[in-house]
Amino acid sequence: MSPSHPTEMSSYAEKLIRGRRATRAFRPDPVPAETLRAVFALAGAAPSNSNTQPWQVEVVSGAVRDRLADALRTAHAERRTTVDFPYHENMYSPTQQRRRAAFGAELYGALGIGQDDHAARAAYDAESLSFYGAPHVAFLFTAGDAGARTAADVGIYAQTLLLSMTAYGLDSCPQGLLSFYADTVRGELGIDGGKLLMGISFGYADETAPVNHITTGRAALDATTTFHS
Ligand SMILES: Cc1cc2nc3c(=O)[nH]c(=O)nc-3n(C[C@H](O)[C@H](O)[C@H](O)COP(=O)(O)O)c2cc1C
Repeated sequence: MSPSHPTEMSSYAEKLIRGRRATRAFRPDPVPAETLRAVFALAGAAPSNSNTQPWQVEVVSGAVRDRLADALRTAHAERRTTVDFPYHENMYSPTQQRRRAAFGAELYGALGIGQDDHAARAAYDAESLSFYGAPHVAFLFTAGDAGARTAADVGIYAQTLLLSMTAYGLDSCPQGLLSFYADTVRGELGIDGGKLLMGISFGYADETAPVNHITTGRAALDATTTFHS
């Protein structure tokens, strides 16, 4: 069979990649320690520029997770935000803004929050600093230089980690929001270096929560990808 035909591996990949989705309500049950080690060992197989592996990964559980959630809520209430990677609302093109709005309508619709209910949206953001109830959260830092190329490597690590979690039966949510509290995270975990790219909350989904059943479409292939020949 020609290697370009679907194979057993491609059917697994379709299931794995399309089977992952962002989960925003978790059960409190912790993930066994040996599963944690297997998942993060597999994620470490991610590729990187010259095999530099410029990621620094902090996995937080138990009492430290609870303390950190409290510290994040306090930092939020006191408006103490610090970002290592700048963020601007206007960094998105009109097309991207439209996709963002469509996603927001799905999300807030499932939560029963009206489009213009800014107070309820803000309250939901604050609540999400408790990792959507997940028993674990992984913080992904770039180690050393935090240029775009290093961040790209850590982004590739992030997706490898998300897929590794899916493969081991775990549910997850990447949370850029957590990167707005970089100093709080560093302070609570007692670490100095590194630039915080994102947090990933993970555990087991609460399948009864409507928010875990939203659909997020994708742009048509031709809208993002050009085949030159
Ligand atoms: C880098 C990054 C940051 C994200 N930040 C957040 C976040 O702060 N809060 C959140 O609820 N979802 C966040 N998400 C999840 C996206 O909203 C989600 O991946 C997207 O809507 C597509 O949905 P899906 O993951 O279910 O396929 C983030 C995803 C990525 C990749």
